[in-house]
Formats: sequence, structure tokens, C-alpha cells
Amino acid sequence: MSNYHIKHLEEYFKVYRKSVREPENFWGEIAEEHFVWRKHWDKVLSWDFKKPEIKWYEGAKLNITENCIDRHLFTNGDKTAILFEPNDPNEAAEHISYKELYQRVNQFANVLKDNGISKGDRVCIYLPMIPELAISLLACARIGAIHSVVFAGFSATALSTRINDSECKMVITSDGSFRGAKTIDLKGIVDEALESTPCVESVLVAKRINSNVNMKEGRDQWLQALLDKASTECAPEIMDAEDPLFILYTSGSTGKPKGMVHTTGGYMVYTAYTFKNVFNYRHNDVYWCTADIGWITGHSYIVYGPLANGATTVMFEGVPNYPDYGRFWEIVEKHKITQFYTAPTAIRALAKENLDHVDRYDLSSLKVIGSVGEPINEEAWHWYNDNVGKKNSPLVDTWWQTETGGIMLSPIPYVTPTIPTYATLPLPGVQPCLMDEKGNEIEGKQVDGRLCIKYPWPSIARTIWGDHQRYKDTYFSAYENLYFTGDGALRDTVGYYRITGRVDDVIIVSGHNLGTAPIEDAINEHPAVAESAIVGFPHDVKGNALYGYVTLKESGEGRDHDNLRKEINQIITEHIGPIAKLDKIQFTSGLPKTRSGKIMRRILRKIACNEIDNLGDISTLLNPEVVEEIINTKK
Ligand code: PRX
Repeated sequence: MSNYHIKHLEEYFKVYRKSVREPENFWGEIAEEHFVWRKHWDKVLSWDFKKPEIKWYEGAKLNITENCIDRHLFTNGDKTAILFEPNDPNEAAEHISYKELYQRVNQFANVLKDNGISKGDRVCIYLPMIPELAISLLACARIGAIHSVVFAGFSATALSTRINDSECKMVITSDGSFRGAKTIDLKGIVDEALESTPCVESVLVAKRINSNVNMKEGRDQWLQALLDKASTECAPEIMDAEDPLFILYTSGSTGKPKGMVHTTGGYMVYTAYTFKNVFNYRHNDVYWCTADIGWITGHSYIVYGPLANGATTVMFEGVPNYPDYGRFWEIVEKHKITQFYTAPTAIRALAKENLDHVDRYDLSSLKVIGSVGEPINEEAWHWYNDNVGKKNSPLVDTWWQTETGGIMLSPIPYVTPTIPTYATLPLPGVQPCLMDEKGNEIEGKQVDGRLCIKYPWPSIARTIWGDHQRYKDTYFSAYENLYFTGDGALRDTVGYYRITGRVDDVIIVSGHNLGTAPIEDAINEHPAVAESAIVGFPHDVKGNALYGYVTLKESGEGRDHDNLRKEINQIITEHIGPIAKLDKIQFTSGLPKTRSGKIMRRILRKIACNEIDNLGDISTLLNPEVVEEIINTKK
């Protein structure tokens, strides 16, 4: 038991040392003491980062929903599992008990089976933050189907790409969604996406906004009517620990999105263990993570991690500024939230508004506040710590990735002393290191380099769906025998880590990972565009915003630039979604290139960031004169 909930710093160091010296004993004991397995594993871990191949709890059998639901029924059946807070504050919150969750997940699982879904099939989920979203994930897991959630802010093109990549047989969606004062026609987006997805056989539609939608005969069905007829009992499919649980797409620096595959046993153990420790979770807590389940944060720390601990987890449908900027804090007061977990971009947006939006609510229930998704700047850290945490709820800055499945670097609240902007120390089982560009490990303190991980942890993604070679190339080829995160970090004098940002062509905008290549591909589809390059530049709310340099074909010359800007952003919205729109677009006669024809983004990034005094040597470029032009015509 002692390994499971760390209570003071000495204990952390002791547990950490054990996790490094005896990783198999460490993770074996945690798995044994805190979860329900249908069959014990033969081996805790086998791994080879060269292949790469990683297996945790090989030979074990389980169903994750038995761990997240069934086992809590005896002790906590009437406890609220999911607390749903609707977009409209006047609509009543919904408390779904563990008993009710059991019934609703089983009904949903039976509907999936009745509609031809079985173990190993892929199901695409494109839903807003309503209870059916969490329930549909669990229903898939109940019968061993692999869920692939696509964030409901993605466009029809982005949705169809993801559906086709993993050949989903079914799509689960809703008539539409509420987002602040707006409604969004989700079913219309799905209909458009499904024009080019031959693999999809059926669509289940949840009713949320009561709009008139087109229901395609033989393909589309209303979900509720099916649920009403379904049995509330559905025996769990018994899965191997290494069977896939879900696919979740994340942007790469090049090419199409990567379908990260997470498997069952290790993911469950790691998300549950980290949830317990990073949020200091106790039995009567009401935990709220504001992320969308469309991202990994929602998978791991709204659904699986909290439910595996029998926690009450809040799902919020709305946005932080509706009906006003006090909404988050109103919810904290209303539901007496104990742990609040959000993104720096939300904090920065709220910090710009009048403090009265915070001060009018009683936040005294809070005991841990968390941050995730991008580096939290010092000003935002202090604002959050002072005004929300009131300087007595520890602020946990949690660093991790879609690929890592769970939190990797984070303070443990009431245990690890925090320092603004530092994700501090590795959690037990995580062995970080810093590497230089030549492939040497950077030892010592007060150093910076590229962040890698030396040893597997249970929730590491096992592959990229359909493209194991890309998995190897992206994560295991930069440095021999190491997992490469794509992030830079520094390590200070006490060994704390601070993430400095991406070192590749991924840009994090409002906490969303965006690869530059897919955005450039979308822009280049515009008939007047010859070529484009995207870079990030600092933005005081979004963290980074996108700056696009665009060269036009002859046919585009003389066209009105403002109109072109609108059209370019429209194309991006259609191909990816509004989150990838450019804040600035500069038209230029060329892009700076090396002699081998590679676009020099480093120079473009510096110009976008107004750092023109240290552009470095540009004389070796193919076209140095274009740099001058770009500087002179920048607005
Ligand atoms: O650059 C890091 C940044 O977000 C990236 C991972 O993005 P994604 O896969 O979408 O997952 C986000 C939620 C886990 C990382 O490579 N990042 C995430 N958390 C932090 C962070 N950067 C700095 N500090 C963090 N706490």
C-alpha cells in the first residue's frame, strides 16, 4: 500500500528510487494491490526501444470497465461518478451515480453489439462534452472495441481523414452541440465527412440541441431509442493487457496525424496511479478537469484515471466566458470542487478580465490546482496561484503528452515544493534525461537540452496505428535507446525540470498541438498560392499564434490581400478546423531557402518574433535578398 499514495518528500525519494532500481517489482505491486485482474500476468515488463516493442503485464487478462465501474458498485454504488454541468447555467446539473453509470454503459455496449460492433473494431466518437461521450468510451471498452475520439471542433475533412486512417465501422455523434451562446451543427459535419469514408457502416446520433437533422436511411439511427430497448447487463469482454484500448490522433511535424495506440493494462495502472498522487485524491473529493475528452487529458484525467479510483469527475459542456468570465469559479463554488485542472491559455484569458469575476465566488473548497498542455508563463502561474489557489492550494504544473498517456513530470501536491514555471520532478517510474544535438547525455545541473526518457512506463503509446515505422522514426530514432519527446527542457540546481517548448515543427496554440505541414498543405490548395511557411510567434493569451508567409502564383498577383487572407483562413478552417487559423499572413515574393531547397523556418520564426538583430549568417542562402524584403514589408 505504501507505494500508492505518496505523503511526504522523503517518501517520494524512497518510492522514486525503488521505481528505478526495481521497476518490475514497483509496478507489479501497484498493479496487484489496486486493480481487478481476471488473470495474473506472466511478466510485468518486456521492452526493446530499438524495435521498438513494449509490453506491460503480458499475459494478464482484464476489462478496464470492471475496474472503473463494477468494482465500485459494492462500496460506492450511489456515489456520483460523473457530474455533468451543462453549457447553460440554468439547466440542472446531472449526477450520474456509479450504479447508473454501470447501467448506461452496459446499455450502450449492447447497442454497439446489436449494431455489429465487436472486439477489435474501431468506433469513431465525434461528440460534444455530454455524458454520452464518456459513456460511449466506456461502452467500447466494455466490449473490447477500440475507440477513436475526434475532438468535435475538427472539420469534416479532418474527421474523414481520421475515420479512414483507422477504418472505423461506426461513428457516434449528436445532432449538434452548445458552445456558449452558439450552437454547432455536428451532424452536418459528420454527413459531409461521411461522403468519403467507405468503411463506415452505421451512425448513432445522440439528441442534444433538438435540431432538424438529416437521417440517412439504413445508416443513421437515434441513439436514445436504441438505448431504451437495450438490457442494462452486458458481460465485459475479457481483454489481454496489451490489447488496444483506444486510438487518439495527434499532430506530427509532417504528414498526416498520428493515430497513437494505447493499450489496456498499463494505461489503466498508470493513469490511476498518477491521478491519485498528482491530485492528492481522497474519497469525498469532487474533481474537475476542464479539458475536452477529445484530447488525451480528457481520456486519462476525466474518464479513466478518476473512475479507476472511484472518484467523482466533473464534465463541463460549456466555455469559460459564458455567460460571463466568472463561469469556472461559479462552478467551483456550486459543486465545491476540490481539484481544478485547466490549461494556461484559459488562465491567461481569465487573468485579462476583472478580478471581481473570481473574487465574487467562494473557492475555499479547492485543495489542488493544476495546469497542463503548454508551458505556463510566470505571470499566469502567479495569477493562478494567488487568485484561484489563494496561495494555499498547491499548483501542479503537469508535463506530459498524448504519447505518454499519463502525467510524467509534476509536483506532488503537499509533497514537492513548487517553483513557478517548473514541472519539477519526474513521477515514480519516469526516468528523464537531457541530450545534446550530437547524441550525448547532458549530465549535471543547471543545463538544458532535449528531453528524452530512458525507460518505459506503463502508459507509453505502443505504436502509431498502421505505421509502426513512423512510430520508430518519430520517437526512437533521434537518440539510441531513448524515447524522444520533441520538447526542450532545462534542469536546475536542485534537479527540477522546466519545459522550454517544442524543438520541432509542432506549434502549441491555446494548448492545441498543431503541425505546420498540414496547415501549409491546406493553404497551398488555394489556387492563387504558390508556397507557404508557418511559424509560431508569442501571443499573450494563446501562448503561441500562427504566422504565415505566403507566396502567390502569377495568377494571384494583383489580388486584394485582405480577401486572400480571409480565403486562406477559410481553407484552413475547412481542412483542419478554426483552431488552426492564422493570426497574421504576410505575402512575399519568395521564402528563404537553403541551397538544397529547404525553407529556413528558423529565420522566418525570428522575423515573426521581431528578433531581426540575430538572424545568424544568411549569406549561404539561395536567396538572401528575400530576407531583406520580408523584414521591410512586415507590418
Ligand atoms: O510541448 C509539450 C506540451 O504539450 C505537448 C504535448 O501535447 P499533447 O500531446 O496535445 O498533450 C497535451 C496534454 C498532455 C508536449 O510535448 N506540454 C504539455 N504539458 C506541458 C507542456 N509544456 C510545458 N509544460 C507543461 N506542463
